[in-house]
Order: sequence, then C-alpha cells, then structure tokens
Amino acid sequence: MNIAAGSNRSSRIAGFHKLSPRDRLDLVAAFAGLDDAQVAHLANMGNLDPVLADKLIENVIGTMNIPVGVATNMKIDGEDVLVPMATEESSVVAAVCNAAKQVYETGFLTSVSGNLMIAQVQAVEVADPAGARIRILEKRDEIKAACDACDPVLVSLGGGFRDLEVRLLDTPSGTMVVTHLIVDTRDAMGANAVNTMAEKLAPSIAAWSGGRVYLRILSNLADRRLARARAVWKAADIGGEAVRDGIVSAYEFAAADPYRAATHNKGIMNGISAVVLATGNDTRAVEAGAHAYAARSGRYTSLTTYEVDKDGNLSASIELPLAVGLIGGATKVHPTARACLAILGVTTAERLARIIAAVGLAQNFSALKALATTGIQKGHMALHAQNIAMMAGAVGEEIDRVARLLVERASVRMDVAQKVLEEVRGS
Ligand code: MEV
Repeated sequence: MNIAAGSNRSSRIAGFHKLSPRDRLDLVAAFAGLDDAQVAHLANMGNLDPVLADKLIENVIGTMNIPVGVATNMKIDGEDVLVPMATEESSVVAAVCNAAKQVYETGFLTSVSGNLMIAQVQAVEVADPAGARIRILEKRDEIKAACDACDPVLVSLGGGFRDLEVRLLDTPSGTMVVTHLIVDTRDAMGANAVNTMAEKLAPSIAAWSGGRVYLRILSNLADRRLARARAVWKAADIGGEAVRDGIVSAYEFAAADPYRAATHNKGIMNGISAVVLATGNDTRAVEAGAHAYAARSGRYTSLTTYEVDKDGNLSASIELPLAVGLIGGATKVHPTARACLAILGVTTAERLARIIAAVGLAQNFSALKALATTGIQKGHMALHAQNIAMMAGAVGEEIDRVARLLVERASVRMDVAQKVLEEVRGS
C-alpha cells in the first residue's frame, strides 16, 4: 500500500476493517503524517502475535505495551504470592511491596460472597407491574431450566441459575419491571453466559409481563460477587501511634467526603486495575462495579475501613465487587495474561478475586500512610524523576544519573532535567 502523506484526510475509509494491520497502519500514517520512526514503532507488536491482536479487537494497527511489575512480600491466607501488576504509573508496585512488608508476619486474610453475576431484563409499558412481578416470579422453575439450558458446560462445572428477583422501578415513563437472573458463573467472569441467558428469556418475560422488553444485559454492580480482605498492621511496625492515627483520620476523611473518597478509591484501583489488566480481565467492569458499590448507600464513600483494635493496632479491611475470571476473553488467549495467571498460581476465579482485594487494601494502606506522614511526592518523585529523565532524552545509564540529580536538587522538572542531562553529557 502506497499512500502519500496527508493526501487523504477523510476518516471514511471503506473496507478499513478488512485490511491487514500493516495496511491499516499505512493508511493511518498517511492520514496523520506519521514519520518512519512512528510507523516502525507501531508496526512492532512486541510479544503479542499480530494475528492474535487482530482477532482480539477491530481495526488493529499496533499494540500498547504497559510494564508488568511484580509485587513482593504478599502473604494471602497464609500463602506467599508474587503478584503481577500491569500499570504505567510509577510507585504503584512499590507501594504494594511496602505495605505488604509491614504486615508480612500475619499477612492478609480474605473471603468472598460467591461467584454470582446478575443479568437484567428491562420490561416497559407494563399495564400491571405488581401483577407482572408475581407472574414472572411464578415462572422460576421454567426460568431456571431455560437459563441452565443455555450453558450446559457451566452447569456441569457446578454453576448455572441460582436465583430470581423482580424489581419495580419508578421512572418518568412509567413503572419498569426489571427481572434479575442470578447466575453462578464459576471461573468465568460470566458476561457472555448471563447475557445469553437474558436474551433467551426476553421474549418469555415480554409475554408474562404483557409489556415490551428493551435491555438484556449483565449488571456490573456485581454485589453478589464481593471480595473482601483484611489485615492488622501493628502500630509499632508502621511508625507508631501517630502514624496509625493519621491513617485512621485519612480514612475518616474519605468516608465522610466524596471529593476525598474519589481519590482514595482511585488509589485502591491503582492496585486492583493493575492486577485485573495483567490477568487479561476487564478493568472497566471491575472499576464500574467498585465505584457503584462505593455509592450504594446513596452517598459515595470509601471502599476500605480503618480502625484501632483493642491492642492499639491498625485493623483495616476492604470489600468490593470483583467480577474476574480465568476463562474466556483475553484471560484465556492473551499469552501475557496466561503467564501472569501462572505466576499467581491461581486455579479459581475466587482465589484471583481474593488476591486482588488484598492488593487493593495494600495499595490504599501505603497511600494513606504516605499522605498522613511525609506526603506522596517524596517517594513518588524519586520514581517519577526517571520518567522525566527519559522524557528529557536521557538513555541507558544517563537515566539513573539524571533522576538522582533531579531528586537531590528537589526539582523534578522537565526544564531542569534537560539542563542536568547536558551537564551529565558534558562531564
Ligand atoms: C495516586 O495515583 C493515588 C493517590 O492519590 C491515592 C490517595 O490519595 O489515596 C495517592
């Protein structure tokens, strides 16, 4: 394919999806006027087979590499675990290592509420919503049979339909009748399984309700698939009572204030999303579930809690929906995800969810400890300095030297990095 740079600025490209990644890249390069180095960079798909990349999503032209780091010191339910984390943010992996080190002796204890996913079927224009609700509930056995028939493999693995709920929602266009299919999806995240069931049931629900069915889709508020973790940091191991009290106060701030809770939970998701991504799971599904759960009382609040226990130690916990799986989608086919799951040594989705919850708690502990003591910038800047050094053009050994000098001068800035790099090169 040979297209002059900038010769075609139309985004209407017939048959774009049918082209190879390389041919698409040439078209995009021409559109955007990319230089040869940019094209070569995008054409290098690293450790993801271009054929596989092209099958995972549409209109592929390249891949986006994110570093995978490993969190050490984690002991979860008495077992040592090395946790792979995919993130572009410096300090995130180090924070988990530090938090876990300070509680290594007792580690993290975890649990789950189950593997239940919810699919919603929305019926509108129902003349008698209360009656429709009862009529649908009466069909429980029929609904169970229809759901289980959608996925005999899931049933053979011990999963399948578990429960039925019908909710009435007042909306500006009348009362909606919303049926919840509650399904044990075992080691799958379960979106495909429950969406198939919801679509299968939709015509029957329309008939039983006497209304019209619109949406048939899972809920990411997976509040029947909660993962929990707890840990007790000894006051003496974390710098004493003042540090402990600072952490509790930081938590109470987040618990009371949605502005702070958003940042507090963002920090938790730094850890959680990194493991979710490393294992090929759906970061957006987990994030949507976490934030919706944080707002379940009607006011957005903290996903973690911190208290002082009877011995004066810091007792911390986290609870959130964690819809992750080991089979299906990228978890099964992405080789990096497979390798990360092998590092974790998990054989069930439940264990993966428990590990991820513990990482979220560790991440949050470190952030609160830093914020309540020295502030976040000191530790963050040491790592951030390396990024700034690279952005300023440092390569190889120059990166560490420039970064060190930036930290020593307490000035981790691009303009300073450029001057320091010149000094380093001139010395
Ligand atoms: C930065 O990515 C995350 C923090 O802002 C989290 C927090 O404030 O708790 C440090």
